[in-house]
Amino acid sequence: MKNIARIDFKLWAVGLLLWVGAVWAAEREDLIRRGEKVFLLGGCGNCHTAESGPLAAGGEPLITPFGTFYPPNLTPDPETGIGKWSEEEFIQALQEGISPEGQPYYPAFPFTSYTKMSVRDIRALRAYLKALPAVKRRAPEHELRFPFNLRPGLWVWRWLFFRPERFKPDPFRSETWNRGAYLVEAIGHCGECHTPRNFLGALDWDRAYGGAVLGEIKAPNITPDPDYGIGEWSREDLSYFLKTGIKPDGDTASGEMAKVIRGGTARLDEADLAAIIEYLTSLRPIASDPTQKP
Ligand code: HEC
Ligand code: HEC
Repeated sequence: MKNIARIDFKLWAVGLLLWVGAVWAAEREDLIRRGEKVFLLGGCGNCHTAESGPLAAGGEPLITPFGTFYPPNLTPDPETGIGKWSEEEFIQALQEGISPEGQPYYPAFPFTSYTKMSVRDIRALRAYLKALPAVKRRAPEHELRFPFNLRPGLWVWRWLFFRPERFKPDPFRSETWNRGAYLVEAIGHCGECHTPRNFLGALDWDRAYGGAVLGEIKAPNITPDPDYGIGEWSREDLSYFLKTGIKPDGDTASGEMAKVIRGGTARLDEADLAAIIEYLTSLRPIASDPTQKP
């Protein structure tokens, strides 16, 4: 009798362990899947993956008016990737733009938008990156023009232009609008291309989403202005464009926007896509567009 009770107990304990393990694995998988969504809409792979190179193991040279950046390796390789980083260090890089060594990052890494991301989303993102295969591949040093090659100069830039802040929901707006604002401003970082910058590369929020030219990238006005923006587009037009890249006039999105759509907005679920559209159609119209200059 006693022995049977003991066997019963062992079976029960093994069952419990298996169950806990399964729940843990399912939760972990769920976290990684959420992290992948953030990775995709965040466009991390667009910069950190080279053409036909391994995922997130370092990207194509990023040519800007300040010089050429080489987006580093984000895989878990301990020497050339971020395998040794703690979770706190990863959160600090995205929300504060500061490296584990305490150095400031260049805003070519759009931490200026990611600063608005929630810790919950950043944790998921890290779980996803940690689950990627580690790749040994060291990114070359950036090749920047003087004085931009002097990293400590970024302290001045930060003092002038950067305030770390989380996304603050607007209590007077709907939940959908707030979700859209978070996806556009924090993760989707749409303003990093569509908002003009001053001569030191800081975003000019007085002309938010009013269109911008940055090196080769010409990102048009996406405010609801009927002449210069996308005020004439219906919600269906916008939804179709963000899924397929096809505009109401039959043109297709090229270059950077094609990547944003293919890897990011085309893979959103309907609720998130509707939220983004809700937010975009509520933007303040801007009646100009620097990309339309001859
Ligand atoms: C527009 C291009 C671009 C996008 C998009 C981008 N990054 Fe980066 N990232 C860079 C560049 C360039 C650097 C190097 C910055 C520096 O050296 O100061 C960098 C640096 C980093 C670093 C620091 C790595 C190190 O070794 O110090 C991390 C972490 C990082 N990015 C994560 C991400 C994540 C996660 C995403 C998506 C949410 C992302 N990046 C999206 C361009 C980009
Ligand atoms: C890396 C830069 C970049 C990012 C990030 C970006 N875009 Fe774009 N976007 C562009 C460029 C460049 C074009 C012009 C593409 C073309 O016409 O071929 C464009 C075009 C568009 C258009 C079509 C406008 C028109 O008049 O033709 C819309 C709408 C748009 N983007 C919305 C978004 C949204 C929403 C996001 C964020 C989820 C976003 N973009 C993020 C670069 C970017």
